[in-house]
Amino acid sequence: MNFKMNLNEAKNYATTYLMSTYSQLPVLFVRGEGSYLYDNEGKEYLDFFSGIAVNNLGYCHEKIIEAITTQAHNLLHVSNLYYTEPMLKLAKFLVEQSGLRGGKVFFCNSGTEANEAALKLARLYGFDKNKTKIVSALNSFHGRTMGGLSLTGQRKYQEKFYPLVPEITYTVFNDPKALEHDLTDDTAALFLECVQGEGGVRPALEEYLKKAREICNQKDILLVFDEVQTGVGRTGEFFAYKNYAILPDVVTLAKGLGGGLPLGAVIATDQAAVFNPGQHASTFGGNPLTTRVALAVTEIISQPEFLKTVKNQAVLLQKLLNKPHPLIKEVRGLGLMLGVELIIPASEVVKKALNLGLIIGTAGENVIRLLPPLNITEQEILKGVELFYKSLSCFGEKR
Ligand SMILES: Cc1ncc(COP(=O)(O)O)c(C=O)c1O
Repeated sequence: MNFKMNLNEAKNYATTYLMSTYSQLPVLFVRGEGSYLYDNEGKEYLDFFSGIAVNNLGYCHEKIIEAITTQAHNLLHVSNLYYTEPMLKLAKFLVEQSGLRGGKVFFCNSGTEANEAALKLARLYGFDKNKTKIVSALNSFHGRTMGGLSLTGQRKYQEKFYPLVPEITYTVFNDPKALEHDLTDDTAALFLECVQGEGGVRPALEEYLKKAREICNQKDILLVFDEVQTGVGRTGEFFAYKNYAILPDVVTLAKGLGGGLPLGAVIATDQAAVFNPGQHASTFGGNPLTTRVALAVTEIISQPEFLKTVKNQAVLLQKLLNKPHPLIKEVRGLGLMLGVELIIPASEVVKKALNLGLIIGTAGENVIRLLPPLNITEQEILKGVELFYKSLSCFGEKR
């Protein structure tokens, strides 16, 4: 089959054949290399969004290509009824990285599925103890399946999809006092993001996570960290919670884990990993192709030198963005996960940046989300920031 569409044909196909779940931008990408994407006319774009925190090693990384081709010559899929080595090795690797005592892993295909699995795990954990309640944070985002949506503390995503999964309530994010009130003896689990991503790139406060850990210990509540967006090196640590020196009981991962292939995972301590055969499953979850690639990706990203460079690049990017600007209200985030709050609609700036050859995203109405590849160079950071300011300059000092 030949792939030679132009942009107009792409738009027509999309209108005719795709459900309208996405507001797509007018660009047809055909290729990527390093931190750059190329459209069907050969125009180059510097990528500061990484496919929403997925392409953490940029495009066409040689180790990813090698892992895909080697595994494709051997075995793509056999189902979870049999053992396959890449999955077993990845499980060992993730458990060791996580620091979770006696950790065990369940593999799935996406972030929402990882949270779905963690939600079921929490229900099961609480079943015999009469713990029926689940708590998550206001302004959080945990996915689009009914479980993920029910955990998501934002009405705008939930409206018109009621009834949701019952007995899930929302606590005010970053408010330790609210935790004291909202976590009760009949709570089975507390779901939190260390940095709320879709909710506007808002890092958790250390005292807040410490309080969460303390109450969860006191009341036998599972502390679940959703690291779907923050995990796999994004914040300068393999898991964002390592920035806080707090261990959860359960962690969910996806996005960056598969290096561009669909892979999700749940890691739980021995005590929290209560699934028995038949209680949860996934046909594709952790197949040899995705886990082989994940091993290649994580081997690179987990190197202390690599993570140190991520931290250094993050310092540089934050420094460059922290100059006073009439349209910028605040710059916040952790590592290479940054939010730039503007006083104008972020989506307009995203469109302008695209025209100028820079890919950036949004996190809510007024927040620009920057998620560059973790192996981005200093020169690319300088170029990206320059293009970003150029995009802003098109809007003058509107208020
Ligand atoms: C924190 C968090 N959890 C879950 C999800 C859902 O992941 P997926 O789109 O892979 O289902 C996302 C996606 O943006 C996310 O940021």
